[in-house]
Amino acid sequence: MTLNRPNALNAYSVRMRDDLYEVLTAVRADDEVRVAVLKGAGEKAFCAGADLTEFLTAPSVVRARRIRGVRDLWGLFLKIPQPLIAALHGYVLGSGIEIALFCDLRIAADDVVFGLPEVSLGIIPGAGATQTLPRVAGLSRCLDMLLTGRRLNAKEAHQYGLVSRVVSRERLLGAADEMARQISLCDPAAVRNAKQAVLRGLDMSLEQGLELEKSLAVATRRIGRRTAEKRKRHAQE
Ligand code: CAA
Repeated sequence: MTLNRPNALNAYSVRMRDDLYEVLTAVRADDEVRVAVLKGAGEKAFCAGADLTEFLTAPSVVRARRIRGVRDLWGLFLKIPQPLIAALHGYVLGSGIEIALFCDLRIAADDVVFGLPEVSLGIIPGAGATQTLPRVAGLSRCLDMLLTGRRLNAKEAHQYGLVSRVVSRERLLGAADEMARQISLCDPAAVRNAKQAVLRGLDMSLEQGLELEKSLAVATRRIGRRTAEKRKRHAQE
């Protein structure tokens, strides 16, 4: 999936929200899709945040809320069973970070620049960063970024745990594809259930999380057995 408005540094617009919603709905429904990569078009940015030309142009709070209810992109991100990989380069600002934080794996090019400028614009993040960032980077680091608007380079982002790998700009898409390929070689049910165990478990007590892991492990083995039997039958036919 490509955020494809390079002339506006892939700024997140209403149109982009609708397109992403459609694409992610298709990904979610398609068992053939094992993993998806999200990247930004052009040289300068993954996404320079919300489209400032549309900023605060919603006709009314009530209407905006109604549209969000119908097309709740952030809620949809949480329901995607397959792993999502964000391949990040250049500017990753505001909503750009928030989109990346809804992905499961983040790889950055060495030219990446992260920042949350919201408070300097008189707003707070509205696409989850106040909740997703502390889960990923920890409380102190989240507040440091959020309250000061400080920008982070690739090395700092890696230290903060915002990204798990940093590669050269030329290698970014290759590295993301290779990561996707490795995931796609694994058992799809095991991959989905492992993702589910980790993400759902984060919001549970350790005891509840261990119960969840146990039930998903049983379900994974059951699916594995059924798949093996199916393969055996096909081979015999
Ligand atoms: N929305 C709309 N257009 C944007 C944009 C944005 N967020 N960011 C960049 N663009 C456009 C510019 O207007 C410019 O268009 P033109 O060529 O037609 O003039 C084009 O993209 C290239 O941008 P610049 O010329 O500014 O490029 P630069 O290299 O000089 O600067 C930048 C890059 C530092 C990222 C600068 O563009 C910038 O500060 N952009 C705004 C970043 C920002 O504040 N984003 C909003 C964050 S808040 C948020 O996302 C949460 C929310 O809900 C509001």
